[in-house]
Amino acid sequence: MTQPTQSHDDLSWDAFDEQRDPRPSRQGFDEVVDRAISRRGFLGGALAIGSGASVFGAALLRATPARAASFPFTPIGIGTDFSLQVPEGHSWKTLVRWGDALTQAAEGAFSGETGVALDLSTQVFGENTDGMELFQIDGKEVIAVNSEYVNPKINLPAASEGKPQSAEEVQLLKNLQGVTILEVADQGQGYQVVVGSAFNRRITNDTPMTMDGPVAGTDLVKTAADPAGMSPLGTLNNCGSGRTLWGTYLTCEENFNGYFGMVTERDQTPEEKRYGLKGESNYLYEKFDARFDLIANPNEPHRFGWVVEIDPADPASTPVKHTALGRFKHENAEMVQAADGRVVVYMGDDERGEFIYRYVSNGTWAEGQKGGTLLSEGTLYVARFNDDLTGEWLALTPESTGMDLAQMLTFARLAGTKVGATTMDRPEWIAAHPSRAEAYCALTNNSKRGGDGQPVNAANPREANEYGQIVRWRPEGGDHGADTFTWDLYVMAGNPAVHKDAYAGSANVTEGNMFNSPDGMAFDSTGMLWIQTDGEDTNEGDFAGQGNNQMLIGNPDTGEIARFLTAPNGAEVTGLCWSADRKVAFVGIQHPGGSWPDGAGKPRSSIVAVWRDDGATLG
Ligand code: FEO
Ligand code: CA
Ligand code: CA
Repeated sequence: MTQPTQSHDDLSWDAFDEQRDPRPSRQGFDEVVDRAISRRGFLGGALAIGSGASVFGAALLRATPARAASFPFTPIGIGTDFSLQVPEGHSWKTLVRWGDALTQAAEGAFSGETGVALDLSTQVFGENTDGMELFQIDGKEVIAVNSEYVNPKINLPAASEGKPQSAEEVQLLKNLQGVTILEVADQGQGYQVVVGSAFNRRITNDTPMTMDGPVAGTDLVKTAADPAGMSPLGTLNNCGSGRTLWGTYLTCEENFNGYFGMVTERDQTPEEKRYGLKGESNYLYEKFDARFDLIANPNEPHRFGWVVEIDPADPASTPVKHTALGRFKHENAEMVQAADGRVVVYMGDDERGEFIYRYVSNGTWAEGQKGGTLLSEGTLYVARFNDDLTGEWLALTPESTGMDLAQMLTFARLAGTKVGATTMDRPEWIAAHPSRAEAYCALTNNSKRGGDGQPVNAANPREANEYGQIVRWRPEGGDHGADTFTWDLYVMAGNPAVHKDAYAGSANVTEGNMFNSPDGMAFDSTGMLWIQTDGEDTNEGDFAGQGNNQMLIGNPDTGEIARFLTAPNGAEVTGLCWSADRKVAFVGIQHPGGSWPDGAGKPRSSIVAVWRDDGATLG
């Protein structure tokens, strides 16, 4: 696949980061052929990889046809235009768009011509909506939602050409990212934002925060402005989300590297190289705010790349960066509980060839308790996926890695390499089944699989993997606290209209439901897996017939997958949560093209509400 050459205005941030900091290119393919999957996965029929056979044999992969769809809707066709489509018998409407007011003072702040002015930019919904969760607080419904990044070209005056020209322009970009807390309510006309609610809050690239866990207060995170190393400012590139058992929000810092630059040249350190910190930043923050200059403040990036906890019930609360969960390009954070009551958090590191992690707390949690030290005292693990469909969680400790604890967590990627973690095809969201111990991770794609340091393996079995797959694991004994698991591939995305080999995808992929680049994922309360995509929407070549990015529903038991929603061209679908009564699904539409959703002016990233016309629950 040729590498994109657009600016990030035309790409998802993930895709832009790949282009800016590409991993090594691929080499041979042959060594993988004998790394066959030796027994069937959980599904048996739907994946049908075959016994003792190569996973690359297309006939084997596609030996068993997908079963007939049995979802309570008629699956839709692909979308190719600038509209959003849902199945017959369903409707949608916009809940909130980039620039919509959170306060009365900010009503009318957005202009289709000029966007949002600096003075009201912390009182509006941020741009490029991403992970989100809905909380029920004192009888109210409150959504916490990420704004992953901004598109500078549509936020800055045309004369700036997408590059900020002043500290004020940098400040505008900073203010439109981070997290938004907003109350929503349906008062007879569908869900709307409760403008002026006391819950409404913006958290930006500059909001005061604190840190806990082993790295907090160490030399690695001390800066001239914060000599104690305890008080970072802001959160960057908030991608996926999570929720704690005790009702708080987890926001995950992903491609934070893109916010830092060097005002003068120097060589990268090995750690900076592994994390993609270099040169000129995407937003030129470093030219107007020395905090983002790696020359002046080499420790500042150590204060990003964490999972951050926010209490949506308390607008005055200080967000906490939990260093015990490790520093990497966090996608989301899926919290479950071990059989003995310990807290388990599954996390992906979205970069080609990086790892899947698990955090296990030392203490246990029971209903009614707060978080306490559960996210500051525990052990971080990385996953090894063996080719025989077994796997293990490898503990990261000073003994296993030869690194001191703070170094090990701050440079978790290097620690993972030392213990022999499996390089994955860009781990995006992880979703845990609601009623059995089973977790799914979207491996979005990896055009460099097969290259240096990334030989194919059974869990990442295709060279130059442009379609992606979803891997899932079952912990030993049905206990998320167990250190071993078995795994299989729930689906290998592909294009059976174009390919007849492994790139056609697994048997549960058909010309009627095909997609590429699975990314966002969440289980609903009925145990169905909702899958969102962030991939190629050219509808040409290898992607012909796949249309725009989309949201599908997968049945984890039968393997069936059906297309439920198609996004406007240019957009990715990311972020999903439900109303308290489960009748409305809230879906994030990020970086839409054209002038969606309004048909005039700038395109506006938005959350849409989707419901069934008959009033039945929707997941
Ligand atoms: Fe922000 Fe990997 O998605
Ligand atoms: Ca994503
Ligand atoms: Ca992605």
